[in-house]
Amino acid sequence: MTKKKKSPTDNWKQVRKRAVAVLPKEVVKLIGDVQKSDTRPRSRLITVLHRLQAIEGHLGPEELQAVALLLGVPAAKVTGVATFYHFFRTVPRGRFMVSVCMGTACYVRGAEEVRGRVAEELGIADGQTTSDGLFSLQDTRCVGTCGLAPVVMVNDDVHGNVTPSQVPAILELYRARVATPDRAAPDRPSASA
Ligand code: FES
Repeated sequence: MTKKKKSPTDNWKQVRKRAVAVLPKEVVKLIGDVQKSDTRPRSRLITVLHRLQAIEGHLGPEELQAVALLLGVPAAKVTGVATFYHFFRTVPRGRFMVSVCMGTACYVRGAEEVRGRVAEELGIADGQTTSDGLFSLQDTRCVGTCGLAPVVMVNDDVHGNVTPSQVPAILELYRARVATPDRAAPDRPSASA
């Protein structure tokens, strides 16, 4: 007689239902596909987290718990992976993502000093978000405008030839946009040289 497969918990159906409700349908489907096709679903954890972040923007604690349950991976491991890799975000990103290019051209033209000034002005480090939810800071690789090095992007806006002393004024542009939303601050990319 074949033994019936044991559920992870007595109330597994309800637990699963709750986990499914927390995650985007696409991620639930991906986890299902992984479990059907892969004998080691744990090895696909990073793929699942990437997809989840692409949809949600960050990896929240509830979502991580749901991934752990559905994938059958210990919650501590899922959280460990999400917090270990710099490309995963466990807090929501700010309204304005400040990306300082650390590619070679920008680096040799002072990107590190520019990044330092941005971090100082915002009071956050790489990968963090300000407490008012306005700004997030991240390093980025070459954004393809090396002629304007050093380059800082704020969302899609490109700011070129940035010096540390220009950083406060650049950030102020975006604070002003929030304070007076009607103001004609650039919402679309603008390359300032
Ligand atoms: S290295 Fe910064 S834009 Fe290319």
